[in-house]
Amino acid sequence: MKKEEIKKLYKKKINQFKKNNFLYFEKNAPKISDSNFDQLKSEILELEKKFSFLKSQDSPSKVLGFKPSKNFNKVSHKKPMLSLANAFSEEDLKNFEKKIFNFLDQSQNTALEYSAEPKIDGISASLLYKNGEFVQGLSRGDGKEGEDITANLKTIKDIPKKINSKNFPEEIDIRGEVFIQNSDFETIKEKFANPRNAASGTLRQKNPEDTKKIPLKFIAYTYGFEKGMKIENQSEFLNYLDKWGFKTNPFNKTLIGIEELMKNYISIEKIRNEINFDIDGIVYKINDFKIQKRLGNVANAPRWAIAHKFSANKGVSKILDIDIQVGRTGALTPVAKIKPINIGGVVVSNATLHNEDEINRKDIRIGDVAIVERAGDVIPHVVSVDKDKRNKDIKKFIFPTKCPCGFNTVKEFNKITKKYDAVRRCPDRGFDCDKMAIEKLKHFVSKEAFNIDGLGKKIVEQFWELKLIKLPQDIFSLDYDKIEKLDGWGKLSIANLKYSIKEKTKISFERFIYSLGIRHIGLENAKLISKNLKTSSNFLNLLKNKKFEELVNIDGIGETQINSIKNFFSNKTNLNIINQLNKVLKISDASVIKKYGPLANKTFMLTGKLNGISRAEAKSLIEENSGSIVSNVSKKLDYLIVGEKPTKRKVESAKELKIKILNQQEWSKILNKSS
Ligand code: IVH
Repeated sequence: MKKEEIKKLYKKKINQFKKNNFLYFEKNAPKISDSNFDQLKSEILELEKKFSFLKSQDSPSKVLGFKPSKNFNKVSHKKPMLSLANAFSEEDLKNFEKKIFNFLDQSQNTALEYSAEPKIDGISASLLYKNGEFVQGLSRGDGKEGEDITANLKTIKDIPKKINSKNFPEEIDIRGEVFIQNSDFETIKEKFANPRNAASGTLRQKNPEDTKKIPLKFIAYTYGFEKGMKIENQSEFLNYLDKWGFKTNPFNKTLIGIEELMKNYISIEKIRNEINFDIDGIVYKINDFKIQKRLGNVANAPRWAIAHKFSANKGVSKILDIDIQVGRTGALTPVAKIKPINIGGVVVSNATLHNEDEINRKDIRIGDVAIVERAGDVIPHVVSVDKDKRNKDIKKFIFPTKCPCGFNTVKEFNKITKKYDAVRRCPDRGFDCDKMAIEKLKHFVSKEAFNIDGLGKKIVEQFWELKLIKLPQDIFSLDYDKIEKLDGWGKLSIANLKYSIKEKTKISFERFIYSLGIRHIGLENAKLISKNLKTSSNFLNLLKNKKFEELVNIDGIGETQINSIKNFFSNKTNLNIINQLNKVLKISDASVIKKYGPLANKTFMLTGKLNGISRAEAKSLIEENSGSIVSNVSKKLDYLIVGEKPTKRKVESAKELKIKILNQQEWSKILNKSS
């Protein structure tokens, strides 16, 4: 590239940075994801490093945040509020340490002690205390000058207004993060794109009464100017913060060396989605204040600290189309087909748009540029769209009022909330709606229902397309000659399939009810009905005589479930399915739960895969023998049953609590002892 071209590219990136910096800090309305913003910054810094002729006052190496908005009084920070350099890998951390050793002119053998603090993604604030009294609170602003938001900060319960501890410094700026807990954000999420924006917007309301309405939290982690503080290191400082009445991050740790930092990073990233506030990395600070002082700052960041960022879980892509998928119970779910992008190592090409209301609220259109988020194992979803990047002739998305099967859809009225559902549904036409039919068949063969080896969802889809299976009973009279001719099938696999289907003609009553896929009749309700009616012939009689109301006597079954069952069996196809299935299946009666079985008064938990028995079956076996299942390892647990590839953490916690650990054989022995 020629010099002029490089300059042009640099200028373009600087302008992009300027615009987005303004949107982020001033407007609280970022138009690009945090990770893309970070990337833009690193691209600029990279260019500057490579070509020394590139310089700009607006470079991220010069600019810290944004100039305070005009709405509040500007006040200088006595000590600047610094930024942090980012690390994305172990390599980056090693370089960070190397630079420290070089600076201190030390050999690299000494292990450094760090305070490791999960980095809350909120808004930083500096609180000035004089003689124990909170006198002034500033936002960060551009790092040198902040906004006086004292009145708003005073509405936050976590911020102590008066501190009486003897050892509290005469004067000190306590610094930390203002944020909104995810659970609190749920109730206001209509108004803001994410918890960070909500915290920022709320904190800068002109009227403190408005700020008071939103539950803001404050976690303290550092200090600015101080007079009379006698503390030697960061961990000790964090302990004092607790004693003085501030909240600190419960996941803070003191660690030695990069190996420990990495272990901690991995374990925190794993539980990231379970924490009630957003964290985007871990801040590491050299623990010793004396060493911190020696290291000092470089430009706008300290040499003694770094933010180890988590991998991005958001990305930007284009919506190519919006598909309407129909679920087993008729719910119409819009799904955005996006240009494939890699988010945190996974290629994403579909993202859910939840429902019609959500599309309207976010004004999502085909052709839009969208922010897509993927968190843990949850289906990726569209967070928002960039309206600035929208082509003028893109039309509003009109949600279809018809199901792809051609039927008019409905929005149900919820009697409890007195509102219409956000979800549009195909009225429950069961197998008469092609889209629902395929989902119902997938449910029929699923793990907790028939669980037929070799007949998974993909095969069901294929057989459905080929018209080999249209209704559940077709599974039991498959045309094997036709299947044998299909790609991937041979004599052996056909024999196996035949065998496993035949095996599943024997089924428990509760699984049978569940497999029908009646709306509102999940595993638990199927269990209740089976326990109560005991035999499938009782069930068939009830259907024949339309005595659905009798089900109301079952504890746990209410009007919603009964109406759903009624509705299900008012459909002729459904009735026919039941009759046909009844001919080919051997539905066993509900097992009688032994009150004084061999596992009486004992609690169990399962982890890992058991041999030859599904998780669901193992659970019911325990329950049939009077044992009970618990869902977490605690002192209340008597036995942890461990199969193949168990969750290590569960086994470790059980060992710590001295809970008896059984392998499958040992468990079988207990079961068989008294039966
Ligand atoms: S220390 C001198 N500690 O991260 C170091 N910052 O990019 C700067 N942050 O502006 C502050 N958790 O908003 C520090 N435990 C923590 C933090 C933390 C979150 C934020 C803060 C700061 C930004 C730096």
